[in-house]
Amino acid sequence: MQTAIGTDITIAAAFLQAGELVAIPTETVYGLAANALDPAAVAKIYAAKNRPSFNPLILHLANTNQITDYAEADEMSLKLAHHFMPGPLTLLLPKKSNVPDITTAGSHKLAIRVPDQPLTLSLLSKLAFPLAAPSANPSGYISPTTAHHVMDGLHGKIPYILDGGSTKVGLESTICEVADNQIILHRAGSVTAEELSAFSGLPVIHNSAISQHVSQQVSENQPATPGQLKSHYAPHTPLFIGNIPQLLQEHAGKKIAVISLDTEYEGATNFKLATDHQLSTAASRLFGTLRKIDQSNFDLILSEIFPNEGIGVAINDRISRAQFILKH
Ligand code: TXA
Ligand code: MG
Repeated sequence: MQTAIGTDITIAAAFLQAGELVAIPTETVYGLAANALDPAAVAKIYAAKNRPSFNPLILHLANTNQITDYAEADEMSLKLAHHFMPGPLTLLLPKKSNVPDITTAGSHKLAIRVPDQPLTLSLLSKLAFPLAAPSANPSGYISPTTAHHVMDGLHGKIPYILDGGSTKVGLESTICEVADNQIILHRAGSVTAEELSAFSGLPVIHNSAISQHVSQQVSENQPATPGQLKSHYAPHTPLFIGNIPQLLQEHAGKKIAVISLDTEYEGATNFKLATDHQLSTAASRLFGTLRKIDQSNFDLILSEIFPNEGIGVAINDRISRAQFILKH
């Protein structure tokens, strides 16, 4: 199959209506989309990504009014949706029966979001169905933040990539769930725990802190957020995080790439993510930088731990999941 890159939403819509896959830009990362209500189309997503069949997909909608067409929504979830969407927030809600089981990998919960990307929003509003879309990378590799990243991983497997340029945020959406008068944060993103708590007045509990509570609700091979398996987001080049001067000493003699906010380390090739010192800049450049390093024959990647505030929490989450030690 030939893979084309373009900006034509009419072509994208035609492929999707025919049950084919199209990669779409969002404000977070590129998604690999199919008609969420067509089991055969959704099956193509799992095949193209080589995604485990137990890992559910996010439903992408044109606007928040459509949420109750596909999910049961409590009052607080709807408030969060109206406030944060379109935007990088995904909500977990009880699924309605019109959404096929394959879209949620058999789960009775459905992940929903309205992406804040003009091309994709106009594509969604042309379609008579919502789009199921995981990140548009082969399962286990780094999420794509440009159309070319998608091409690198999926060329020959999908007919069309809708090119919306570089994604604004650069890290996947925040995933949360309202339960028992608290908010469970399943994946950190640019909508922070502080923002969710300030807006809702509810405490925000991190998924790991309630893992016991969650494991009572879901079966063994269906973790609450399966994509939070530790081998996610990993580059091929081994990556270690921590104190850089110390790590450089331990790995002396190797060809090393160092990722930092804005520090020059001797004895390594430096990749500074944000000379403006903004964590949002660092977030938007992280995945592209990891890909670039991965294509450049380094023996090792070392990364600083970033300030653990705002979107820095999500950056630290992604780099710790990319760590070599955790991959096995
Ligand atoms: O920013 C994003 O969320 C991007 C763009 C394309 O929208 N999408 C994305 O999808 O990151 P994906 O599939 O790579 O990550 C979605 C995560 C996975 O960890 C998946 O397990 C989890 O959401 N998820 C989806 N549906 C779920 C469900 N019903 N219950 C629990 N976790 C779910
Ligand atoms: Mg993904």
